[in-house]
Parts: sequence; structure tokens; C-alpha cells
Amino acid sequence: MEHEDPQQPRTPLHVAIIMDGNGRWAAARGLPRTLGHRKGIEALRRTLDAARTLPISRLTLYSFSTENWRRPTSEVKELMRLLRFYLRSELAALHREGVRFQVIGDRKALPPDITTMIERAEDLTQDNQALTLTLALSYGGRQEITSAMRGLAKAVERGELRAEAIDEHVVRSFLWTGAAPDPDLVIRTSGEKRLSNFLLWQSAYAEFVFLDVLWPDFAGEHLAAALDEFWSRERRYGATHGCL
Ligand code: IPE
Ligand code: IPE
Ligand code: MG
Repeated sequence: MEHEDPQQPRTPLHVAIIMDGNGRWAAARGLPRTLGHRKGIEALRRTLDAARTLPISRLTLYSFSTENWRRPTSEVKELMRLLRFYLRSELAALHREGVRFQVIGDRKALPPDITTMIERAEDLTQDNQALTLTLALSYGGRQEITSAMRGLAKAVERGELRAEAIDEHVVRSFLWTGAAPDPDLVIRTSGEKRLSNFLLWQSAYAEFVFLDVLWPDFAGEHLAAALDEFWSRERRYGATHGCL
């Protein structure tokens, strides 16, 4: 595929972000980690505002991993408190801005009041079309694939599916992301260069941009720069240059 012509309108992208570095942001200032998480919420708002001005149709944000449950209880509690705060304070604005809100992850592990808030937010915003915001909460790529395999095995057991009929399309339909398109671009902040169990199946052909900025410092200019980097690359999907 040739590089896109900068004069032509860009195809709207699905951008996924691993929002990392809250703890280090706080530690660098001698503050408790929880204050870093609070600042992280502000970065989330800035990111969404910036995304609405850029050719982005989907934002998927890694907010809390299955492995993050292993953190000290006090930190997990504060993260859940912030999540409640976010859902309560942002929902009206998200809806007004035409944002469709979704969550992927192991919902059963979340506190029931949060699950209820999530369901309400998803119902309220389901027909919105300006941008889809997906929070990955209690999310793990391996857990998602394991859950999909269990679902497939059950369908085969019940006689609803033949093992031979299982192809990529069927596997995908059992993932938490369902029919959603794959991310085009995965950004990770904080300088770490790993996936940490994020969208393992879905990012098979994503472009990766690793930024040295800590999540609480992330702003629209970083998002715009990551998109420029994305557009400067040639995606080949296994083909040779110019053969797509
Ligand atoms: C990301 O920041 C937020 C979550 C994982 C919930 P961290 O809390 O991982 O911050 P660092 O990586 O310790 O700096
Ligand atoms: C990944 O960050 C999870 C989120 C950003 C929500 P972590 O900080 O948990 O990942 P590791 O521990 O550095 O791999
Ligand atoms: Mg981290």
C-alpha cells in the first residue's frame, strides 16, 4: 500500500492506548501513587477532546488489567473510586458529545455498583456515532482468548457448532471485542515497550508507538504526533511493497 496522500482525507482510525506511568509521575514529585491516577483522569479527558478533532473513530483505553488486581488493596480501592467518579462526572458530557461508551473485560470481577453504572452508560450511549470509547477494565488478552475458547467448546458440546467450522471469524465473534474492528495503532506511554496482556489477538497487525511521556502528562500534541508517525509507516500485512 502506498503512503496516504496528505491532501486526501484520512481514513478514521481505531487507536488503542496503554495508559501507563501514573505511579512514576507521582513518585517523581514525592506524591502518593493515587495522585498520579487522579491526574491520569485529566489526561483521559484531554485525550478524548483531542481525539474528537482528529481522524479517530474509536479509542480503546487500557484502564485496569486483570493483573492489576494484584496491587495493594488500597490502590485498587482508589482506582475503583476514581472509576466511579469518572463514570458519574463524565457520562453526561460523553453522551452530549455523541460518544458511544463501551467496556471490555471480565465484568464479573468488578464491584456490582460499577457494573450497573457501566450497563447504564452503555445503554444510554449505544446509538451515538461521533466516536466509540472503549475502556478495557479488568481486561486481559489471555483471559479473553481463554473465555472465547471456553465459549467455543461449549457451543461444540451443545452441538451448535462443528469443530471444522471454527475459523478466524468464529473465534473473533467469541472475543469480548466481538465484531469491533482491530486497532490500527497501539500507543503505550511511560517508555515501557511491552503489551502487558493488551488486545493480544486484535493487535496482530497494529502499528506500535512507544512514547517516553508519562500518562498524566499526555496531551493532544502527543496523540497527534503518534498519528503522524502512524501515517509515515507502510502497512504491508505480509504482502510485498505495493502488492496490496
Ligand atoms: C497506569 O499507571 C495505571 C494503571 C495501571 C491502573 P501505573 O500505575 O502502572 O504507573 P507506573 O507504571 O507504576 O508508573
Ligand atoms: C498495563 O500497565 C495496564 C494498564 C495500563 C492499565 P501495567 O503498569 O500494569 O503493566 P506492567 O506491570 O508494567 O507490565
Ligand atoms: Mg505501569
